[in-house]
Amino acid sequence: MKPLNIQDPEIYSLIEKETDRQNFNIELIASENFASKAVISAMGTALTNKYAEGLPGKRYYGGCQYVDLVEDVARERAKLLFNADWVNVQPHSGATANMAVYLTLMKPGETFLGFNLAHGGHLTHGSPVNFSGILYNAEFYGVDKETGRLNMDEIRDKALKVRPKMISIGASAYTRDFDYEGFRSIADEVGAFLWMDMAHTAGLIAAKLLNDPLPHCHVVTTTTHKTLRGPRGGMVLIGKDGENTMGKVAPKSGRLKNWSELFDSSVFPGAIGGPLMHVIAAKAVSFGEALQPSFKTYQEQVLKNIQALAKRLMELGYKLVSDGTDNHLILVDLRSKGLNGKIAEEVLEKAQITVNKNMVPYDTESPFVTSGIRVGSPAMTTRGLKEAEFTRIAELMDMVLSNPGNEEITYKVGAEVNELCSKFPLYNFVTV
Ligand SMILES: Cc1ncc(COP(=O)(O)O)c(C=O)c1O
Repeated sequence: MKPLNIQDPEIYSLIEKETDRQNFNIELIASENFASKAVISAMGTALTNKYAEGLPGKRYYGGCQYVDLVEDVARERAKLLFNADWVNVQPHSGATANMAVYLTLMKPGETFLGFNLAHGGHLTHGSPVNFSGILYNAEFYGVDKETGRLNMDEIRDKALKVRPKMISIGASAYTRDFDYEGFRSIADEVGAFLWMDMAHTAGLIAAKLLNDPLPHCHVVTTTTHKTLRGPRGGMVLIGKDGENTMGKVAPKSGRLKNWSELFDSSVFPGAIGGPLMHVIAAKAVSFGEALQPSFKTYQEQVLKNIQALAKRLMELGYKLVSDGTDNHLILVDLRSKGLNGKIAEEVLEKAQITVNKNMVPYDTESPFVTSGIRVGSPAMTTRGLKEAEFTRIAELMDMVLSNPGNEEITYKVGAEVNELCSKFPLYNFVTV
């Protein structure tokens, strides 16, 4: 067997280029992070070869004695991290974890109430082009036009009107924390299940820096690669005493007797075939990292850094949706600057600053243009940047956005980005 650079120089060179891009760009995409070398190493192993359909101790394949132990470690660490009663670490992604929730709690055609996608919700919470909107009847709640925040009274009114079977919480571009107790009391009032998708904020929740959904929601899903800083993947969790806090008797389905068994069977065989054992090993490694005290320090710095960036941008005259943030991201409304999200994303990228265009609530632009950009601090905080550097990043962004397309300024900012990135090295390897 030859090393990758000899065996396949074409792919090796593309991996090299992408690693270089990550090393020398300011990464501000709120849903991205930089996994550790240990996490990346675990993924590049022989575990990718192993079929292990089923659960530890109950597989449909032989030879699972070691991957069983790997999955057990991942599950135990995840339970400890989130104080959960039960977890399934097999979903290949956040979308797959969410699919397992729908398969367990909803029948096709039934109604659920979710966070309006145009106000920060996610595709898998009822978009007409996603399975969640194709198979189920999605109704939406949104944020207040003036404050950019959710209004619990309006959500209650909507729930009383549409009588959903399930209420979903969770977003990809909402900057405020959620009132889980308030949501639970609405869910109980209308007899709905309550599901939180904490894909974005899981790391901050694990570090106890945001409200904890697990004691209040019937089920919680997450991705593992955003603030949680693991490999790309998903999982499903039930909080302490979850079997009882589900508050409803699990429907009997053959030999399956309780909620955790039902969710397990919705993951496999409901939503996936063979689990990705190399990724589950990497999940275990990342949960081990998240259980260290340094993870809390990291998450605290994520919050300090986004606050520094937000403060400087507001001083420079930028309007932020909800006028700030409780979490790791901000949403910049560019309308007052005469820009749209598409142009902003493009000109910033030329100066080696990576963000994504994003709809702002009540946006009049299309999703391909948008009026805003979403900016997050998790990735650059992993590299070691602190408040001073994030303040400077706000100034660099402003230089580019105030002079869109100006080549001299783009070059100047790009040179400073290179210098900053060199001071905070990331990966010194291409393959591990
Ligand atoms: C809230 C939320 N849920 C689910 C997902 C889907 O995760 P994945 O891309 O792993 O399928 C995302 C991804 O951005 C998300 O923000």
